[in-house]
Amino acid sequence: MPAERRPLVAGNWKMNGLKASAGEIGAVAQGYDAALAARIDLLVCPPATLVCKAAADVAQSPLVIGGQDCHAKACGAHTGDISAEMLADAGAKAVILGHSERRADHHESDEMIWQKAEAAWRAGLTAIICVGETEEQRTAGHHHAVVARQVRGSVPDDATPENTVVAYEPIWAIGTGLVPTPEDVAEVHGAIRAVLAQRFGEAAQGIRILYGGSVKPDNAKALLGAADVDGALVGGASLKADDFLAIARSYL
Ligand code: 13P
Repeated sequence: MPAERRPLVAGNWKMNGLKASAGEIGAVAQGYDAALAARIDLLVCPPATLVCKAAADVAQSPLVIGGQDCHAKACGAHTGDISAEMLADAGAKAVILGHSERRADHHESDEMIWQKAEAAWRAGLTAIICVGETEEQRTAGHHHAVVARQVRGSVPDDATPENTVVAYEPIWAIGTGLVPTPEDVAEVHGAIRAVLAQRFGEAAQGIRILYGGSVKPDNAKALLGAADVDGALVGGASLKADDFLAIARSYL
């Protein structure tokens, strides 16, 4: 991995976590010691209800807090939605966009995710743009085409290594305990990097590509050591500080 691509380990808490769970984020901040901070970036994305408190709690730590989605507009009549500006105001520095659960549950299209990414940048947030194929698409051998189409359709033209992270999350690996081999992951990440290079030239070498889907302490080293893998987007194992930190420490 080129020196400029600093690894990022990000936790996606999804719809989990009450005020009482905020202690886990404090424990992550505690465990994010100088050795780890010298090596990798660490991010936790709790539910929106906890972003403000979490960001305040870890203000003295290099641990960064992010959101899990945002609306494309800055404000307006959109009941129940949250804007990128609101997340930034609450202390978030990044936002996950286009997660497969949002693509499925909320019918989010590539075009919507593109607009949300531009909204994230407008508010000064890093956009973590998720892509990934279904089991059917993988079995049919269409995964490269699907992922390439999602990257082309949901990563906006002004993406840079600073404002954008891509996360490859094969849907069949999310929450299932099934994981692709490190070779399979490297192959898809290489394909994503090639699509980014067509769009962004040399800058594509600096854009981080995370792997997500059943990353656990016992498989992290193999998955994160694969070519073109610049970190992880962790679901279930990010809910416990010990497991999340164990994944992060696979870089030490
Ligand atoms: P799991 O780590 O629980 O499989 O979830 C992955 C994911 O969807 C992260 O965004």
